[in-house]
Amino acid sequence: MEIIILPDPNAVARTAADIIQARLEKGRTVLGLATGSTPLGTYEELIRRHCDAGLSFADAEAFTLDEYLGLPPDHPESYRSVIRREFTDNVDLRDTAVHSIDGQAKDPEAEATRFDTAIQAAGGVDIQILGIGTDGHIGFNEPMSSLASRTRIKTLTKQTRLDNARFFPSLDDVPYHVLTQGLGTIREARHLLLIGLGQAKARAVAAAAEGPVTAACPASALQLHPHATVLIDTPAASQLE
Ligand code: F6R
Repeated sequence: MEIIILPDPNAVARTAADIIQARLEKGRTVLGLATGSTPLGTYEELIRRHCDAGLSFADAEAFTLDEYLGLPPDHPESYRSVIRREFTDNVDLRDTAVHSIDGQAKDPEAEATRFDTAIQAAGGVDIQILGIGTDGHIGFNEPMSSLASRTRIKTLTKQTRLDNARFFPSLDDVPYHVLTQGLGTIREARHLLLIGLGQAKARAVAAAAEGPVTAACPASALQLHPHATVLIDTPAASQLE
């Protein structure tokens, strides 16, 4: 695991964009896209490079990490909507090449299997962008998720629902259940790029990078990966040894 500590979120965003740009310039690229606040600076930087410097996503495909169960796809906070609004609609990535999980699928388990199969059919993910929850989750793999898990239904912890309430009118509106790529699914990506910003993530970052590999901290699964990069700002690095 490579840990890169940078002074501020802008430097983190530029470095993440450099890594993604280098992969895009090699040819066809399958991106794994996280939602939430953390990658927004990186997406803004990639959009800027697309608009100002012609960085192209025309040969790329993308898979989102997770989705709220029960939210209609066109709900403003569905991850299908968020990733389009915040990123993919602003670059030359074809909409049909942006693959999301259907949170309203009649058979969510079949939808989860369909999604894993679609990732494999695309040749797997080249770069998976990840945020980290305050409880160490990646995707929505909450503590005690199996390190080998596949895309499936999960129940959000109280802490994650509280953390995400800022995106909804009230805590009661935050769904309890999600569909998320599993830790086994995520670990199949060829390069994992975990971004951590701010003091609130410091404890989770330290547990992920320096604690034992354990389901109690799902992000510690990155230690098992041959090509994992952790990009953090100084406050997020503050609890590293
Ligand atoms: C979102 C996701 C989550 C977030 C995590 C951090 O697709 O998979 O794991 O990355 O909850 O969220 P933020 O970035 O909002 O702090």
